[in-house]
Amino acid sequence: MNSRLRDRVCVVTGAARGIGLAIAERFGQEGGRIACVDVSARRLEPAVEGLKSKGFDAKPYEVDVGKRDDVHALFARIESEFAAPVAVLVNNAVFARFEPLAQIEVETVDRMFAVGVHGLIWTTQAAAPQMERRGGGSIVNLSSVSAFNPAKDSIAYSALKAGVVGLSRASAIELSAKKIRVNVIAPGMIGTPASIAQFDEATIATRQAEMPAGRFGEPEEIAALAAFLASDDASYIQGAVITADGGWTIPAR
Ligand SMILES: NC(=O)c1ccc[n+]([C@@H]2O[C@H](COP(=O)([O-])OP(=O)(O)OC[C@H]3O[C@@H](n4cnc5c(N)ncnc54)[C@H](O)[C@@H]3O)[C@@H](O)[C@H]2O)c1
Repeated sequence: MNSRLRDRVCVVTGAARGIGLAIAERFGQEGGRIACVDVSARRLEPAVEGLKSKGFDAKPYEVDVGKRDDVHALFARIESEFAAPVAVLVNNAVFARFEPLAQIEVETVDRMFAVGVHGLIWTTQAAAPQMERRGGGSIVNLSSVSAFNPAKDSIAYSALKAGVVGLSRASAIELSAKKIRVNVIAPGMIGTPASIAQFDEATIATRQAEMPAGRFGEPEEIAALAAFLASDDASYIQGAVITADGGWTIPAR
């Protein structure tokens, strides 16, 4: 494994499980120092212990990214505890519900947008001054193919993930002058425990058969893309939305 992130302080939100945990591990393999942020202390502590047991410089931070003041305090704490400004931010945390229109409740939508859109504005706002002080940085935001190709029962989720694309590309314009890149990953179906749990075996088989790749993606495949975008190898990639879906959204002819 190369060392593209050597000594860089990398913040990963939603790092307690799934894609976020895979990204934290990959960043550790590439020499990064990882601030693992999650709202679930119960899941975060064992996840970070696992990273530390592999020799990575990882610390847990139990924070709700939807709370602006808490997020600003978090970034000040991370800079102090790592004794270096943040170089990389991955906005991966999500609160997602998939429901038909008539069943969508105010509380659900408010929570989804607090975590998945407002939270990205607060983390970007808090990280940008630190990145500027160190001469630049990279922000990677997790959207979804649902932003463009919505699945059933995903009105709120599609709106959320389209919002991620808009705020990321607008941030890229504003932050370019500070040498901060902002890019988006739009995964298709990734085989995390949370995503698999939504479906029965027959649905999983149908979905996989729809995909040119014939399978769901692995969290590690998204982590590899995140590491590339976080690194200087992606130095000319700005405001891009990169799909990683095994060809799922290629229109059938
Ligand atoms: N898994 C997939 O198939 C898939 C597909 C497309 C896009 N994505 C996107 O990738 C990202 C990760 O997906 P996943 O399947 O690994 O998710 P997941 O549900 O397994 O993990 C999300 C993590 O975010 C944390 N979290 C929730 N609310 C939070 C808050 N307020 N503050 C901090 N942390 C919070 C959760 O505790 C959890 O650990 C998400 O943005 C998701 O929308 C996933």
